[in-house]
Amino acid sequence: MPTSTHVPVLLEETIEALSVQPGGRYIDCTLGGGGHAAAILERSSPGGQLLGIDADPEAIRAARKRLGAYRSSSLLVNRNFVDLQATCIKYDFFPVHGILFDLGLSSLQLNGDGRGFSFQHDAALDMRFNPEQEITAADIVNKYSEDDLDHLIRKYGEEGFSHWIARRIVKERPIETTLQLAQVVEQAIGRRRGRIHPATKTFQALRIAVNQELEHLEAALRQATELLGSEGRLVVISYHSLEDRIVKKFMQRESRDCICPPGVPACVCGHRARLRLVNKRVITPSRPEIKFNPRSRSAKLRVAARIFEPDGYHGSSGEPDMLYTTEAFGWRKPALLEKIRMVFLAA
Ligand SMILES: C[S@@+](CC[C@H](N)C(=O)[O-])C[C@H]1O[C@@H](n2cnc3c(N)ncnc32)[C@H](O)[C@@H]1O
Repeated sequence: MPTSTHVPVLLEETIEALSVQPGGRYIDCTLGGGGHAAAILERSSPGGQLLGIDADPEAIRAARKRLGAYRSSSLLVNRNFVDLQATCIKYDFFPVHGILFDLGLSSLQLNGDGRGFSFQHDAALDMRFNPEQEITAADIVNKYSEDDLDHLIRKYGEEGFSHWIARRIVKERPIETTLQLAQVVEQAIGRRRGRIHPATKTFQALRIAVNQELEHLEAALRQATELLGSEGRLVVISYHSLEDRIVKKFMQRESRDCICPPGVPACVCGHRARLRLVNKRVITPSRPEIKFNPRSRSAKLRVAARIFEPDGYHGSSGEPDMLYTTEAFGWRKPALLEKIRMVFLAA
């Protein structure tokens, strides 16, 4: 398997989950090497449009090359998906038929020189998706207190030996490179057991903290839901349990009419479902896919469709504000989004 190019995970399943249609509008919030984006553009032509977002400027460059044939139907933006709504408002790109999040790292980042994401190569402890972000992994490793490191490695790495690792890090610092850190973790908790390197969880924890991955995911899922047209699809591929838990909880909560705690005799929350679960069970890669692309082994795909309240999102006249209609989708421009847009433009 080539390691320099990123092989898109669950590709067919993703296209099906997004229900890609000719003429549709889609957002790929994690463009990476552009693998999923290329398939979306191919299946949505003629007339399809794609907004591709990635926090990493290198990913945007790689995707621009790969999607050269679709220059007129794609718009690629170097932004963090935590700014999803503002980005869509800026480019007037909503509502959409489908939004994809394929979380985590691309092979370009894992194998790239000097990014510090992997302990397979010696590099500075950086781990920022975007080099303009302020905090690097080296800042955390060398400046946090032992207690804070312990907490971070336990919380974001789900590492049971976080206490030993934090203590060793503090003893050995300054730690400047990936191999140095991997060695320190090995010294703290022992050598590799099975196929997983002992530093795997610590590296995951640092990457999540540097990029505020979990907070950004929660915020972006809420924004994505607002941007979908009726029956538009929200598709998320996650690679570890912390991400998957957030996605699962979000989709479950947003697909319920009432989220009052159990035991409350009558609903007081007034919550209304905005999503419908398309697949109750999570979708995972087949054995042949895992064999061909071992990086896909932990992937979990979840999909939900946007629903509207029958009396929701009408203009002040009471008539729905029609943006446009296709045969497959009867769309309304959500009044709430229009309000947000006006506030944004006025700011
Ligand atoms: C697994 S890769 C996506 C691969 C892509 N689907 C493909 O087929 O080539 C994940 C990408 O998401 C980007 N990413 C992760 N978190 C992000 C965020 N909060 N905002 C924008 N991009 C993000 C990473 O920089 C990386 O390029």
